[in-house]
Amino acid sequence: MLGVVGAGTMGAGIAQLGAAAGMRTLLHDPVPEALEHGAESVRRGLAKWAEKGRVGEDAVKLLEPVSSLDELAPCDLVIEAAPERPELKRDLFGALSMVCGDDAVLATNTSSIPVTSLAGAAARPENVVGMHFFNPPPLMPLLEVIRAEQSSDRVVQVAVDVGAAMGKDVIVAADGPGFLVNRCGRPFSAEGLRLLQERAATHEQIDRICRLGGGFRMGPFELMDLVGIDVGFEVAKSFTELSFGEPRWRPSPIQARMVSAGRLGRKSGRGYYDYVEGTPYRPDDPEPPEPGGGEGTTVSILGDGPLADGLRERARSAGFELREGGPTELVVDAGPRPHPSPPGGAPLLVLCAATSLVARGEQGAVGFHLLPPLEDVGLVELTRLPVTQRFAAEAAEEFFSKVGFLTEWVEDAPGLVLGRIVCQLVNEAAFAIGEGVGSPDDIDTGLTLGLSHPRGPVAWSEAIGLDHVLAVLDGLWEERREERYRAAPLLRRSAALGRGLRD
Ligand SMILES: NC(=O)c1ccc[n+]([C@@H]2O[C@H](COP(=O)([O-])OP(=O)(O)OC[C@H]3O[C@@H](n4cnc5c(N)ncnc54)[C@H](O)[C@@H]3O)[C@@H](O)[C@H]2O)c1
Repeated sequence: MLGVVGAGTMGAGIAQLGAAAGMRTLLHDPVPEALEHGAESVRRGLAKWAEKGRVGEDAVKLLEPVSSLDELAPCDLVIEAAPERPELKRDLFGALSMVCGDDAVLATNTSSIPVTSLAGAAARPENVVGMHFFNPPPLMPLLEVIRAEQSSDRVVQVAVDVGAAMGKDVIVAADGPGFLVNRCGRPFSAEGLRLLQERAATHEQIDRICRLGGGFRMGPFELMDLVGIDVGFEVAKSFTELSFGEPRWRPSPIQARMVSAGRLGRKSGRGYYDYVEGTPYRPDDPEPPEPGGGEGTTVSILGDGPLADGLRERARSAGFELREGGPTELVVDAGPRPHPSPPGGAPLLVLCAATSLVARGEQGAVGFHLLPPLEDVGLVELTRLPVTQRFAAEAAEEFFSKVGFLTEWVEDAPGLVLGRIVCQLVNEAAFAIGEGVGSPDDIDTGLTLGLSHPRGPVAWSEAIGLDHVLAVLDGLWEERREERYRAAPLLRRSAALGRGLRD
């Protein structure tokens, strides 16, 4: 028998999943209107599923709203989805341990409070586990089970089995700031904010680059507007507090400023974007140009690795004549580390991975950055210096347009915009794997199913190559000496051994 405490957005959704999985489900909320409203939402949800044939007409009979906590006594598992207030939740875990049987599993749906601290408030801490559902629970395919310091193997297994019976893909995470999904997803907004702070690009550009260059459904700023800038700021502060000041997780002064100004995102009508009824907050994305028109132009694409290989393929199919040696009309250095002596005499386009364009020192070159796999990529980032001549910039725009990319000019840095964001996602995943927070497969499942990323950071590291990821991180470290860009030990070790993060 399942008990659910708190009949709000999450509790009602979890109760719907329980009844749909055939469990007798007791739903409790101390606020009578909230209980009635929650129970009604479960009934509506089950009726919809019954219409679609996903559950029997009888599933709704498994739901029983209860007005007192004591009535949860016979439950084998209780999932708490009360408001996100540590003291309230600690009191609830104390009370539930008194009410429920010795073997009852007590789970919390908290998104940010350490499960270990809630377990400490229960009479039998080994029976406490985290079950982090995503909003809305009936639709989101992921469940993140969190193992507190005290959780027994049995309760973790119960949480995993119940999640699977509810039809979820279940991942298991160690307790810690943001658990697995929110921790590994943090660089998306954190590095986005850093880029904006440096004025490397505007927030519209950063979002567009993430969508068209990286295949993300939304960029970091539209996402932060959707979640609520105040909510994101609180999460960032809690990460810093729980980690005693880890530099990668520090909140951004931009968040503080936005909150002070009352620009909280969609809910306040204004965040990074303006939200006006009936008007889209941003224009639709343009289609990338059709590849073609390279006939009669010779180009030399230097470098090893998946990006250089992908570019050669795109250039060839756009009609360019690829040459390995001799004079060409264009030279593209696309390896993660600078080519020692790229041929002179033609416009030079260089990948800004291991260094920024300015640190590389080739006067007149144009910098670019792209992340493989190139099949779904529709945009390339370009950067130039004050000394870069117009003909070189135009040659870069023309070449990338002919191979089928839109172009976006941004400020100079190793990795430019997307490279910094994605390499930090890979880096965070490598820290998390190294620290035993979760398995590589679970991290990829968590970020694709929980945050709708186009691919997980581990899969991304395999597509890009660890050498490229390390080049960007080390380039940022070399040029800035900021601890937030230090590479995870596992990343360096895996690259040195020629292995992947999964090995
Ligand atoms: N909303 C989300 O996107 C989301 C996602 C994942 C996890 N969570 C977590 O789920 C939990 C619930 O969030 P929500 O969005 O459903 O909140 P909510 O405000 O919609 O619902 C909370 C419910 O708890 C009830 N409540 C108040 N005091 C209570 C008490 N002492 N005992 C039991 N119930 C009490 C309230 O009446 C309300 O119905 C929080 O811990 C939150 O962090 C939320």
